[in-house]
Amino acid sequence: MSIKLSSGKEIPIEMHKTRMVQKVRLSPVEERLKAIEEAGYNTFLLKTKDIFLDMLTDSGVNAMSDNQFAALMKVDDAYAGSMTFYELAEAVEDILGLKHVMNVHQGRAAEHLIAKVFAKPGDIVPTNYHFTTTKAHIELAGAAVLEIYMDEALKTKSTYLFKGNMDPQKLRNAIKKYGKDKIAFVRMELTANLLGGQPFSMENLKEIRRICTEHRIILVLDGSLICENAYLIRQREKGYGNKTVAEIVKEICSLGDLFYMSGRKNTCVRGGLIATNNQELFDKIKPWLPVYEGFFTYGGMSMREIGAMAVGMREMVDPDVAGCAVEQIKYFVKRLDETGVPVVTPPGGLACHLDAMKFLPHVPQSQYPAGALAAALYIVSGIRSMERGTISMDRDKEGKEVFADLELTRIALPRRVYTISHIEYAIDRINWLYKNRNLIKGLKFVSEPPVLRFFLGKLEALDNWEKDFSEAFKKELGDY
Ligand code: F0G
Repeated sequence: MSIKLSSGKEIPIEMHKTRMVQKVRLSPVEERLKAIEEAGYNTFLLKTKDIFLDMLTDSGVNAMSDNQFAALMKVDDAYAGSMTFYELAEAVEDILGLKHVMNVHQGRAAEHLIAKVFAKPGDIVPTNYHFTTTKAHIELAGAAVLEIYMDEALKTKSTYLFKGNMDPQKLRNAIKKYGKDKIAFVRMELTANLLGGQPFSMENLKEIRRICTEHRIILVLDGSLICENAYLIRQREKGYGNKTVAEIVKEICSLGDLFYMSGRKNTCVRGGLIATNNQELFDKIKPWLPVYEGFFTYGGMSMREIGAMAVGMREMVDPDVAGCAVEQIKYFVKRLDETGVPVVTPPGGLACHLDAMKFLPHVPQSQYPAGALAAALYIVSGIRSMERGTISMDRDKEGKEVFADLELTRIALPRRVYTISHIEYAIDRINWLYKNRNLIKGLKFVSEPPVLRFFLGKLEALDNWEKDFSEAFKKELGDY
């Protein structure tokens, strides 16, 4: 939650206490420069010993609760038929209202199975916006993603509260154009990650549900960030202010045919799941589970993680859990917006996103401004962020660059991990970056994998901009 101080200032406040800690180190700028060079200007390739605040992602790095740690210890380890799996199934039914569930090792494994079973070569998958791994699996199945977002979605500075909405008219047009038999399924992502963690409204979901029902098309929900979306619906959508996050989560799930999630975010563990009330759809996927993931009652996850997931599933709808990142992000974004730093507004449910095209207008997309900004942020702060722009898009079949709709540098907030002083530090260093933005130039690839290149690709700084840039930092702020 956020709390109003007597000065009138509003701050996010942690509704938990820290009883176990992990030491972090802030290395001097010279060391950071060396580390990013060795990592090929790719923050994925940094080692955590060189990182001060790891804001790469909120995936698999959230703080578990005391009850989750307790659950790790009392699992029923069995290859088949573990009672721990049935504890999770009960939690899924109670919280999501879905009767059938299978675990998978993480979210992309769910995407693999769903794409494999429901998408054929030549099919189309309309979505409010793609996610990197989703797109890869849909394309590997021979189908194509069709982005159907609202026009407002690509405006990084906006007051539109639901930039994750799908445009219903464009969906109708697409069904008409391709024919309903060519639509493998419609996919709605909560909250739309690559748009800047932007939520969709319940009203929009209901409308998309109606269209899918009318044309008998399967509606798939990617619920990796369902609780943040529900929390934002509660804060922003008329008629939902008096509902609980738990009620909203259930209502969302009741509107999909198939639900999947990466459990690495909301449930604060490492794993994923697919769930549904539709037995027929479930039975189509189930035979493939032991082929790719593992037997039905573990699906590639460790039983310990399934035990912790069962607890995390019940805890994730607590507004203090669902809202902890949202409130920190709101504060983070507001403070930067106030000083004129180009950030994605309104704040979303995943991270603070810098708009790299506005931040570095002198760096063309072909020189990867969002990647350059992530590298620069690391050099001046030891903070690891993530490029979410053209580097995160793969080349097309002819090898041509596909420019991303948005060039974002994402500074994610893992749940219950960082404090307001960490955020203050990040705000200060981003302001310094903005003042010195002209010293930042582009990047170029020196080694480029053919698929999901952002994970393992290596780049270098054009014209060695990092030299003058780090010198300017040292001159003003010293080693740290
Ligand atoms: N769907 C969404 C909306 C996601 O954000 C992610 C992962 C996945 C699917 C895939 O799940 O990682 O468990 O296989 N997002 C992470 C991120 C990686 O950093 O945003 P996964």
